[in-house]
Amino acid sequence: MRRLNLWLSSSARETIHFYLMWLRERAIWGVQMGQNILSLLRQEHAKVVAQLDELQQQGLRDRKELFNRMKNNLLPHMAGEERVFYPELEGRGLRDLVSGSREEHTAIRTLMDRLNRTSMDDEENWLRAMLEVREAVESHVEREENVVFPEARKRMDAALLLQIGNRFEEAKGKAHLVPLR
Ligand SMILES: [Fe+2]
Repeated sequence: MRRLNLWLSSSARETIHFYLMWLRERAIWGVQMGQNILSLLRQEHAKVVAQLDELQQQGLRDRKELFNRMKNNLLPHMAGEERVFYPELEGRGLRDLVSGSREEHTAIRTLMDRLNRTSMDDEENWLRAMLEVREAVESHVEREENVVFPEARKRMDAALLLQIGNRFEEAKGKAHLVPLR
C-alpha cells in the first residue's frame, strides 16, 4: 500500500479516495432502499418452514419460546401480504389467484387458533394440530412461490418490487402493534 501511495500521484489518490467514498455511500443507500418483495417473502417462508420443522420434533425443550418466535414470524408476514402485496396483485388482474391465497390464510389462522387452544402438555394432540398447521403453511408457500410469484414478476418491474418490499416491512411493523395470538 505504501509503495502504491508513492507511485500514485496525489490527484490519482484523490480520485480513488472519492470513488471509494462513492461506493460506500451507494452501499449504505442500497441497505436503506430495502429488498425486493419476492426475495423478502421467500426468506420469511424459508424461516417459517424451518421453525415449523423444529417444532414438530418430539420432547422439544423451549417449545413455548420457539412457538412464539414462529408466530411472530408467520402472523405479521400474513398481515403484510394481505395489506400490501395482495392488493397490488389484485389491481393487476390477479383477483382470482389472490382469492385462493386469502382463503389459504384464513384456513391457516383457523388451524393456528386450534393449536393455540391445545395445551402443550398434551404433546400428542399438540403435535397433531401442529402438523396440520405445517401442512397448510407448506402447501401455501409452495403455491405462492411457484404460481403467484411468477405472475407477479410478469406484471411488476424491479423498482416496483422494491417499493412494495419497503411498504411490506412497514405494514409488518404495524402488525406487531396488535397482540398476536
Ligand atoms: Fe407468504
